[in-house]
Amino acid sequence: MIYFDNHATTPCDRRVVEAMLPWFSDQYGNPHSDSHEMGRLAAEAIDQSIATMALAIGVAPESVVITSGATESNNLAIRGFCQHPRQKKRHFVTVATEHPAVLDLATEMERDGFRVSRIPPYSINHPRAGCVDMDKLADAIDDDTALVSVMWANNEVGSIAPMQEIAELCHKKGTILHCDATQAVGRIPIDIRGTDIDLLSASAHKFYGPKGIGFLVVGGGNRRVRIKPQIIGGGQQHGRRSGTMNPAAIVAMSTAIAIAAQEMTTTTARVQSLRDKLWKGVTSQIPGILLNGPNLSLPDRLPGNLNITMEAIEGESWMAATPDVAFSSGSACSSVDPRASHVLMGMGRSESEARRSVRFGIGKFNTENEIDNAVKLLVRAYEKLTDT
Ligand SMILES: Cc1ncc(COP(=O)(O)O)c(C=O)c1O
Repeated sequence: MIYFDNHATTPCDRRVVEAMLPWFSDQYGNPHSDSHEMGRLAAEAIDQSIATMALAIGVAPESVVITSGATESNNLAIRGFCQHPRQKKRHFVTVATEHPAVLDLATEMERDGFRVSRIPPYSINHPRAGCVDMDKLADAIDDDTALVSVMWANNEVGSIAPMQEIAELCHKKGTILHCDATQAVGRIPIDIRGTDIDLLSASAHKFYGPKGIGFLVVGGGNRRVRIKPQIIGGGQQHGRRSGTMNPAAIVAMSTAIAIAAQEMTTTTARVQSLRDKLWKGVTSQIPGILLNGPNLSLPDRLPGNLNITMEAIEGESWMAATPDVAFSSGSACSSVDPRASHVLMGMGRSESEARRSVRFGIGKFNTENEIDNAVKLLVRAYEKLTDT
């Protein structure tokens, strides 16, 4: 299997697995049991891990809340902030191309009496295609806007948002900014304090860590931010998210983020050149392929992302005819949903075009050889499907 679906998830780096192993059967103390050495060791490992992570993303360790992943982080940020007893404003602004972990929550908030604005992205031919339309965002924020939520990098078309500009706009208009940075953390440089982002969500399995662990930064910028806890219990993490913390997974996430930071420059260059080779390989042999999203270069687009629309075949047929290559027709998290991609249609592609589209996510473990082999398999499958 050639794995080109690194936006859905990434393989756990073996160095990360090594780092987490002792915390299962050797050092298994409960980090909240401070009456003995085993518990204290686990607590120290967690503190150390959070400090490492905080340094890598430019925040104070106290602002990091450990969660089960980005879905939970988004819920804690958006609901937690909007439902805080001191919150009197009743308007939530987000972008039509966000992940369902934000969009479905927005629908839920509407049921709870919030007014929700979903801002369209720049369309297909814009250099920042897929990113939130900045003029429309500015127009939508009003005196009643409690929170704005904008993703840093889009999980389907890889467009990278100008977060600093967005943070400035939100703060000038007196509102708070949440950023779903799930696809950005570990892939592009992140300095949360410098960018002045108030709330930020991330998930370890997108940067070569394990699934089921992530974090939310609360008060990452220059303002004090209060959230209402969504999980109530033993009061762990200063009451912000109760439940026994998982030392193995936290050590793993911290190791993964430290590796990503150390190796970012070389990984980015490699992954980008592999992605470009794939693009050249398929477009030189298959006619009529259209690129979805911004041009293929930083700072506009994630280095490993490629999203294309085919002229003659549906994405699902191409995937079925190429079983040895793992790629996708949209976001994995919504692949249970048979609708065509809301991201592509939000950018102006028709439903038929969206159904003829696929997403590749190249990762750090992919090789030149895999690109060559995948191109052969993809072209062969295309020719079979179109009888050419
Ligand atoms: C942008 C974005 N947000 C949120 C999520 C959900 O993350 P998790 O799997 O950690 O809940 C994903 C996963 O694909 C994502 O890409």
